Amino acid sequence: MNKTVSVLVGTQWGDEGKGKIVDLLAENKDFVVRFQGGNNAGHTIIVNNKKYPLHLIPSGILNPKANCVIANGVILDLEVLVSEIEMFVKDGIKLRDRLFISDRCHLILPYHKALDIAYENARGKGKLGTTGRGIGPAYSDKASYNGIRIYELKDWDLFVEKFKFQTKIKNEILKTFKVAPININKELKKISELRKTVLPFVADTYQLLQKAIAQNKTILMEGAQAVMLDLDFSPYPYCTGSNTIPGMVNTGAGIPVQKIGNILGVVKAYTSKVGSGPFPTELIDKTGVGLQQKGAEFGTTTGRARRVGWLDLEAVKFACEVSGVTEIAITKIDILSGFPKIKVCVGYELPPSVIPASSSVIPAKAGIHIKKIPYSSCGYLELEKLTPIYKEFSGWDEDIMKVKNFKDLPKNCQDYVRFIEKFLGVPIKLISTGPKREEYIKII
Ligand code: IMP
Repeated sequence: MNKTVSVLVGTQWGDEGKGKIVDLLAENKDFVVRFQGGNNAGHTIIVNNKKYPLHLIPSGILNPKANCVIANGVILDLEVLVSEIEMFVKDGIKLRDRLFISDRCHLILPYHKALDIAYENARGKGKLGTTGRGIGPAYSDKASYNGIRIYELKDWDLFVEKFKFQTKIKNEILKTFKVAPININKELKKISELRKTVLPFVADTYQLLQKAIAQNKTILMEGAQAVMLDLDFSPYPYCTGSNTIPGMVNTGAGIPVQKIGNILGVVKAYTSKVGSGPFPTELIDKTGVGLQQKGAEFGTTTGRARRVGWLDLEAVKFACEVSGVTEIAITKIDILSGFPKIKVCVGYELPPSVIPASSSVIPAKAGIHIKKIPYSSCGYLELEKLTPIYKEFSGWDEDIMKVKNFKDLPKNCQDYVRFIEKFLGVPIKLISTGPKREEYIKII
């Protein structure tokens, strides 16, 4: 059986630099497909010194040969979608007959964004730090049969009826949060304009992808967010509203799993996280500020400063295990140049005094090295109390952005990469050494 489907997945908390890797891989792909998430994702691609911030359109769009699909598992904010379409049209990038949007995609509507923000404000100190893009509320409407799909936009009267019904209910909920109601007529006017731009791209992407598979076309499934934000396998509720692990390609795009040939895990050379929740290797010292500044760790979507820390190999190992990662791309290793010491987390300790008496999550003896970290468990309360055990590496000072061969990297950098590979037990195939398309090392 030909396995022509590849899946790309983030192995940390998002922002691993997946967009650039997709852009690189798209050169040899017939299709690039988004299958989950919405415009909470933010991928930045730099081509010919021009920066393209993408939130919805697959990052393969800048490779003229690749067709791009937004499959049914994605939820769509029409305003964001239209502004991306317009950005490309202005730049003369062809989208017609190259961009296909599933008619099954659910819409993120104005009340979803209002509810997302209202819930966050009501949580006060317990804020989750969502992107405020309406992701959780839109996916919950989908699951509770209250969603409205892009398909409904084809029949305007039907859409208006559904939109009015939902908005009236949501406005009642917003009232309890003391939030201004959604103006139905104003929003309908906006949507009636937006739909004109979007509808020509709407298609039955299931059929399209089935045909592509039958013709042995190469397909890259572009994961958004990352494993540590998966709705089921993250430390809930510090997650996103969709499943981010590769199994989602089946429900999110109709791709049969046995067609998957390889799963590429993207690992940033250190860790970053936006939003609240446990982050055992977080650095809140000068080194952390240095990493944040040098790595430009500010969200593409929200502009928020990202929390940063050392590479947490236990977390990545869990991500590789649950995702079946077969090969790895390391990103942003150039950011580590100039740090005299670099650490990686290879385990954790839990002081006896902080183990909750009733913990079923951490059965290990307190105070000792916990080998198998409970990322697979549901206990964020315990995760927050772990102390990482680090292995320390000597750093390197050289600028490595122009290096093209692995053996030309500084010896200490090679050691760092080889250690990651050995720890994870998965081959590293690509190292990204800078933000530009041409800045990478391929390992054959
Ligand atoms: P939501 O997806 O907007 O509901 O946000 C839930 C959590 O996921 C928050 O901590 C967000 O910061 C995080 N998140 C969502 N999308 C991304 C992403 O693309 N990169 C990094 N973090 C994300």
